[in-house]
Amino acid sequence: MSMEEYVRKLRERKALAAGTTQDTEMQHQKGRLTARERIAILFDPHSFNEIDTLVMPRYEHYMGGKSSRYGDGVVTGFGLINGRQVFVAAQDASVMGGSLGEMHANKIVKAMHMALSYGCPFVALNDSGGARIQEGVDSLGGYARIFDANCEASGVIPQLSAILGPCAGGAVYSPGLTDFIFMTEQSYMFITGPEVVRSVMQEHVSQEELGGGRIHATESGVAHFLAHNDRECLLKIRDLLGFLPSNNMSDPPYIPPRDDPARRCPELHAIVPIDPGKPYDVREVIATIVDDGRFLEIHELWAQNMVVGFARLDGYVVGFVANQPMTLAGTIDIKASVKATHFIRVCDAYHIPIITLQDVPGFLPGTSQEYGGIIRNGARLIYAYAEATVPKLMLILRKSYGGAYCVMSSKGLRGDLLYAWPNAELAVMGAAGAVNILFRNEVKAAANPHDRSQELADAYQETFNNPYIAAARGLIDDVIEPQDSRRVLIQALRVTLSKRERRMPRKHGLAPM
Ligand code: HXC
Repeated sequence: MSMEEYVRKLRERKALAAGTTQDTEMQHQKGRLTARERIAILFDPHSFNEIDTLVMPRYEHYMGGKSSRYGDGVVTGFGLINGRQVFVAAQDASVMGGSLGEMHANKIVKAMHMALSYGCPFVALNDSGGARIQEGVDSLGGYARIFDANCEASGVIPQLSAILGPCAGGAVYSPGLTDFIFMTEQSYMFITGPEVVRSVMQEHVSQEELGGGRIHATESGVAHFLAHNDRECLLKIRDLLGFLPSNNMSDPPYIPPRDDPARRCPELHAIVPIDPGKPYDVREVIATIVDDGRFLEIHELWAQNMVVGFARLDGYVVGFVANQPMTLAGTIDIKASVKATHFIRVCDAYHIPIITLQDVPGFLPGTSQEYGGIIRNGARLIYAYAEATVPKLMLILRKSYGGAYCVMSSKGLRGDLLYAWPNAELAVMGAAGAVNILFRNEVKAAANPHDRSQELADAYQETFNNPYIAAARGLIDDVIEPQDSRRVLIQALRVTLSKRERRMPRKHGLAPM
């Protein structure tokens, strides 16, 4: 055979391997893109290199000639996203529902191991019916190896998952082990589908209600991001990667700032009402302080009483954790604790300084919280803050009461540089509650209980509910004018960026789970 012949045969095979394009129509009808179309949007133009194109399913004879023989239903490879190397595995739902067989799993595990060896982020574009039924235990073994690779890579390279179609069974646990999950409105994920739910639990539920993108973004919190469609989802992934380092040995991408580091923010006076009972949107505070007003919120639709996300200050990536007075008065509940804990762990793993904005009346009380384990979940948040060795800055905007004060980046938890506005209230509790406990009898015995109660509350407010007692004890490092917030936080960031903190050696701590 001549070289031309060899090349012609190779091209034939590769064309077969790329043959999933015949199913483009089917995917488009469902409002979704094919694996290769998704890759084309995710990566910088002409930068993608496919590997294992010629891998074949070992149990090819089970397939009745229906599937493409090459590729085994998943496209893997590497390319550039915003100029940085990233590995991908994109499942092809047009090959046996994107189900996972042995070789399909091998391809994914190989790409993950390469990403880990070369210190590159790994992105999984999931569109899979779970374990390939025909391949039985080989499929299950494949999932176990993927889960193991997920755990091995955890905290070493960023791992992002997109759910872009129906994902069932084993197809949901690999995403569940990754750092961030993106879903589209057209996707769903569940460990067992509606049929099983109906027969086992006698519960009638649709796929969307059981595990649609919106449900996971608003109810379970499993999805960190929700997109209208595939394209928007893939662009969001590109956006998020812009805030993450390639691996835990490198720093997040620095972008020389255009925004003045000394810029004053007088608009903060109008955004945050002096009256501690009045709500406002803390995201406006963040947008005012950070470079160019750009804030990438995570878990935007879930546990909205806590706001977390990435931004840049003076060009450096920082993570914000902020109470949201607009929802549940900014109290901390189980979901908010879980949300902030996850985010703090991500920041700590990837050298991202954490900036905490406090305006919190305390933990949300009640039986539903106690029965749900607020003690365990609140403890997770404490553990995450205590264990984080990245720079920890904090600014108290208004209220800082009780346990919430201790938990959220306080000095006792090795917060680095902590600030408060002059209207801040740092105390065990608010004035009315304190008077009720400390002076109940005195108020009851007074000629005019209402007036006496008010008098005592005013006195308590004057004495305790201010930032100056904490400042006098060094529990906060300074009281600052609101308009100086950006300048002060940038100065604090600059000095703490060189922070090197070590913990006692141990196999691992026993963080509450
Ligand atoms: C083999 C599968 C498959 C599977 C789908 N297909 N799932 N083939 N193994 N797991 C095939 C179908 O037979 C069909 O082939 C094609 O993919 C498209 O499937 P449809 O059902 O027509 O598509 P759709 O209506 O979009 O529904 C998608 C779906 C549904 C919701 C994913 O197919 C489904 O419920 N699949 C089964 C899900 C499941 O129970 N998986 C096993 C989980 S157990 P043809 O030839 O007709 O085109 C598991 C264990 C691991 O994963 C646990 C580890 C912790």
